Order: sequence, then structure tokens, then C-alpha cells
Amino acid sequence: MAIERTLVLLKPDAVKRKLVGKIIERIEDKKLDIDYLSLRTLNVEELKYHYAEHVEKPFFPSLCEYMSSGPVVIMVVKGENAISALRKMSGATDPLEADAGSIRGMYAPTKSENVIHSSDSEKSADREINFFVKGIME
Ligand code: CMP
Repeated sequence: MAIERTLVLLKPDAVKRKLVGKIIERIEDKKLDIDYLSLRTLNVEELKYHYAEHVEKPFFPSLCEYMSSGPVVIMVVKGENAISALRKMSGATDPLEADAGSIRGMYAPTKSENVIHSSDSEKSADREINFFVKGIME
């Protein structure tokens, strides 16, 4: 078992709907540690960097509007296999395909407003932690 760090965003609808406490409780219940936490509203430049692979996609403008519509919780979660653990807890991007007990399965209304983001690989986790916590752009 590897000790990993992963970057987690609780998206604007999670904050507005007061789901933050419930989601953090689920993470802590799995004995994972909150290694960093902050709350702020992301701007378009940050979203273009974070979602670089989606910038040309048709849904990017609405994704950007939603993700900059209010504060997000930015967290680094640390623990055994934290990257895959958070992906599993989050559930599939489309809440209709997400496991019923996952965070998206329980709380996300749509594919675009899907409550939580977590890094999908070690490489993404490094890039996202460097960017959101240390402010380093590649
Ligand atoms: P996230 O895990 O943050 O990573 C990329 C995000 O893009 C994803 O969650 C969704 O919020 C959004 N997304 C991905 N695919 C679509 C889609 N087909 N339509 C709308 N939004 C999408």
C-alpha cells in the first residue's frame, strides 16, 4: 500500500448546498488525512490551466461559468492509496452511472454539476497539488 496525496475540489454547488461537512466526514471515516484545506473562488485563467484537456470541448464555457460561480473547497487528502480511494468514493463523472452510494451517486444532479473533483492519477495529483497549493504552473 502506498501513501499518496490527491487534490480534491468540492465544487461551488457542494458549498452552496452545505454538503462540505458531509463529504469531509466521509473522507475522514476512511482514515484518510486532510493535509491542506482552503476556500476560494477560482478564476477563468486558473480553470483554463486546471481543465487544459477540456478547453476546446463544447461544454467548457458552461463548465467555466459553473466552476467560477462561487467558492470551492480545495483540499489535499493523504493516505493509503488516496488517489484511487477518492476516485472510488467520488463515483463516475455522470451521476447516472455513478455507484448509488458514491458522493456523485448521492448528491450530483448532472454530469456538469457533479459536486466533487479528485485527481485521476499520480501525475495529475502532482500537477494539481503544485498548481493549487504552491501556485506553480508548468
Ligand atoms: P471533473 O472530475 O472535475 O473533470 C472534468 C469535468 O468536466 C467533470 O468533472 C465535469 O464537471 C465536466 N464534464 C465532463 N464531461 C462533461 C460533459 N460531457 N458535459 C458537461 N460537463 C462535463
